[in-house]
Amino acid sequence: MKPRIMVTRRWPAAVEHVLAERFDTTFNQSDAPMSLAQLKAAFLEFDAILPTVSDKLPAAVFPDADSRTKLLANFGVGFSHIDLDAARERGITVTNTPGVLTDCTADVAMSLLLSVSRRAGEGERQLRAGLWPGWCPTHMIGTKVTGKTIGIIGMGRIGKATAKRAHFGFDMDVIFYNRSKVDDEEIRAMGARQLPTIEDVLARADFVSLHCPGGAENRHVINAARLGAMKRGAYLINTARGDVVDHDALIEALEAGKIAGAGLDVYDGEPDVPPALMCMENVVLLPHLGSATEETRADMGMRAVENLTAFFERRPVPDKVA
Ligand code: DGY
Repeated sequence: MKPRIMVTRRWPAAVEHVLAERFDTTFNQSDAPMSLAQLKAAFLEFDAILPTVSDKLPAAVFPDADSRTKLLANFGVGFSHIDLDAARERGITVTNTPGVLTDCTADVAMSLLLSVSRRAGEGERQLRAGLWPGWCPTHMIGTKVTGKTIGIIGMGRIGKATAKRAHFGFDMDVIFYNRSKVDDEEIRAMGARQLPTIEDVLARADFVSLHCPGGAENRHVINAARLGAMKRGAYLINTARGDVVDHDALIEALEAGKIAGAGLDVYDGEPDVPPALMCMENVVLLPHLGSATEETRADMGMRAVENLTAFFERRPVPDKVA
């Protein structure tokens, strides 16, 4: 008997093919996010559920007893949408897909940084609207990136990949905050400096790029006080999780001109995006595209397949987070 598994959203076709071959797989053909009630029911019917960031799995969704599901093989590196304690209490293993989306997410962080500072979104909107008055020395002047200082909050894989791009591609000085001490060759090679507090980074950085996990621990790490601690002409880039930034405080800081702009790929409560942000020219907004390349999404799927296969073959799962 093949294990019964539930895939909550459509995945890359090649990966769905592998899943269908190896497991008794149910796909959510509609690709609409499943409701809490549907997810709750799935725990009683399937041996594994394969959720992703658009599925909320709070404690209330986990069954009180008799969960048939023993594995949540998440499609994605972030897992703050899953209540890990609730999973642990019920003996449910949780896995993620680290490593394979590092480069693409760092690429999007740099895209946002460049787009917002060089006013790419604003310029494109102007041109498409037929409002470009033509070249002149004072048209749509942005901020130079090369040689500036980038401050990374959270120096994990994606933070390091972003730092590498900024340093080697744009000659930027790299400073960063990380909870634990980071001490490896890679960091030294790019002349990066670890500073003791987030405030130390904010006070010096021309660009602040967020790369820490979401969830309760980091909720609103960037709040009104910290936005106030940023340099006045600085930019905030978020490819981490929406809840890391207090959106109300961000809107206020942007409206008051306390910071120069923001580039965002993730939002608290996405896909809803605060209307105030949508109206601002100095904000670049992407629809959570960090890992959205053909290669990376296929790799993420195959990484989940490896976790599933190991679990049902009773081998240690490669990417266990709970
Ligand atoms: C992740 O993997 O956590 C991304 O945010 C979704 O691809």
